[in-house]
Amino acid sequence: MTGKVSCFADLDELSEAAASFVSDRSDAAISERGHFTIALAGGSTPRRLYEILASPAWAKRISWGRWQVFFSDERLVELSDERSNFRMANETLLNQVPLPSKNVHSVPVDVTDSRKVAEQYEASIRRTFEQPDTVPRFDLILLGLGSDGHTASLFPGKPALTESQRLVVDSEPGVLPPPVPRITFTFSLINAAHSVLFLVAGEDKRKAFRAAILGSTGNADTVPAARVRPTDGTLDWYIDSTAKP
Ligand code: 6PG
Repeated sequence: MTGKVSCFADLDELSEAAASFVSDRSDAAISERGHFTIALAGGSTPRRLYEILASPAWAKRISWGRWQVFFSDERLVELSDERSNFRMANETLLNQVPLPSKNVHSVPVDVTDSRKVAEQYEASIRRTFEQPDTVPRFDLILLGLGSDGHTASLFPGKPALTESQRLVVDSEPGVLPPPVPRITFTFSLINAAHSVLFLVAGEDKRKAFRAAILGSTGNADTVPAARVRPTDGTLDWYIDSTAKP
C-alpha cells in the first residue's frame, strides 16, 4: 500500500487540509479510545500546520487535554536550540494551546549517550501506552520527506534502517543539515501506526517523493521513505503542486 496522495496548490492549502486531517483523527481516536496519541514531524514543512492548529478557529475544536504528544525524531541539541524539533513545535503549537505539559513528551536530550536517549524515549512511549510487550500503535504519526529520500531521521544507508527490534534508535547525521546526532522512530514503530501522514512541499522533494511512492520496500537503503507502509493503518501523502512528479 503506497498510500493515498492528495495534491494542493501550495503549502498554505496543504497545511489547512492537514489541520482538518489531524482534527478528524483526533476526534475519532478520542471517541474510540478516550485519547489521541500523535508523533509530530520535525523540519520546517510542518511549521504552518502547527500554526494553523494553534489558531483560534482550530484550537477551540480540539480536545487538547486528551492528546499525548511525542516526536518522530529529534536532534540531540538543547531543547532551546533553534535546530530542535521540540522548539519549533513548542513555539508554533504546544505552548499556544491548553495542552497539559505532562502530555508533551520531549526527548531527554540532556542525556549524553545517544543510545541511552533512544532507550529512555522508547521506555517513555511504552509507559504512556501501557504496552510493555507489544509495539505501541500511535493514532497518528506525522512525517516529512528529505530530498535524499529520508524520513524522520532514517537516512539512506544508515544502520537505523535495519533495526527490527527497537522502536527508537540513535541515528548518525545524514548528508542533509543539521549534521547533529539524532534519535528516530524505527520502521517497526512507524508502520504500527493507525495513520501516517507525510507532509511534502517543494520542488526539491519531487524526485524523492516519486521514488518513495513508486519504490518497492526493497530500496529502503536509497529511499528510506519507501519503507513506510503501515501494517494495519492508513498512509496519506499531502503534497504541494511543486512536489508533484
Ligand atoms: C528532521 C526531520 C526530517 C524532516 C525532513 C524534511 O529532524 O530533520 O524530522 O525528517 O522531516 O528532513 O525537512 P523539511 O520539512 O525542513 O524540508
